[in-house]
Amino acid sequence: MSKQHESAVVSYSSSDSLNARNEIFDLLRSYPATEEETERSLGLFLRGSLLARILAVRDLYARIVDLPGVIMDIGTWRGQTAVLCENFRAIYEPLHLNRRIVCFDTFEGYQGFSDKDKATELHQDGTYGVGGESYSAYLAKLLELHEKSNAMGHNFGKHTVVKGDCRETIPQYFKDNRNEFVSLAFFDVNSYEPSLKAFEDVWPRMVPGGIAAFWQLTRRTIPAEAMVYSDNILSKVPHTLRRCETYPGLCYLVKPAS
Ligand SMILES: C[S@@+](CC[C@H](N)C(=O)[O-])C[C@H]1O[C@@H](n2cnc3c(N)ncnc32)[C@H](O)[C@@H]1O
Repeated sequence: MSKQHESAVVSYSSSDSLNARNEIFDLLRSYPATEEETERSLGLFLRGSLLARILAVRDLYARIVDLPGVIMDIGTWRGQTAVLCENFRAIYEPLHLNRRIVCFDTFEGYQGFSDKDKATELHQDGTYGVGGESYSAYLAKLLELHEKSNAMGHNFGKHTVVKGDCRETIPQYFKDNRNEFVSLAFFDVNSYEPSLKAFEDVWPRMVPGGIAAFWQLTRRTIPAEAMVYSDNILSKVPHTLRRCETYPGLCYLVKPAS
């Protein structure tokens, strides 16, 4: 199993650019300022590639501000998208206290690779683990702290972190929460069966105009989402398809009104 994240192994950048990245890491580690000033200045170290992701998540969030429904982050990994969404909630709709965010992950890495998938050293059952139960609790705590530090912070505890195989946890979530429907779902579990099952469980609970976003839909090296899309969605499920302006890899289906 690979111990490194793929961004350390797979890159489209030149060696000069990779060296610059490492130098930025060094400067961040030794930044001469207080914690408060460092936090206030984190944009100094935010590289374009991450900023592009953040802007893409913002663009999707902006599209659902006038839609009711929870946000699901399926394959949340370290939970960055979920944390961004809590902060966009606080910025764009601080009074929308029913915008719950639900994160799904095994936190023990990929689960569900089958003969429909091409496992690689980076992508196979067990890679991308972040510590299991303890990381699940860490992310729940972090989300709550962001809620508390945001506007209307006395109203916290809106969000949920669900640990386990999403093929089981998503249907269980809807069984336990029969009131919940979805405005925005991010999919990023990257093997065929879990991607298909997650989509099939979420789409019927998605409101008209709701968004199903796939992080890897056009990526050749992780083809599960594209295969699920081509086999089961493209000509079978009414939708429109777009890609995010700043982060072309993030593609999204919009559910039509009828
Ligand atoms: C590429 S990472 C997700 C990155 C994350 N979406 C982001 O943007 O930062 C894929 C995640 O899917 C999770 N995963 C894979 N198969 C899963 C399954 N069957 N059920 C739940 N989570 C799964 C892995 O544990 C991993 O954290």
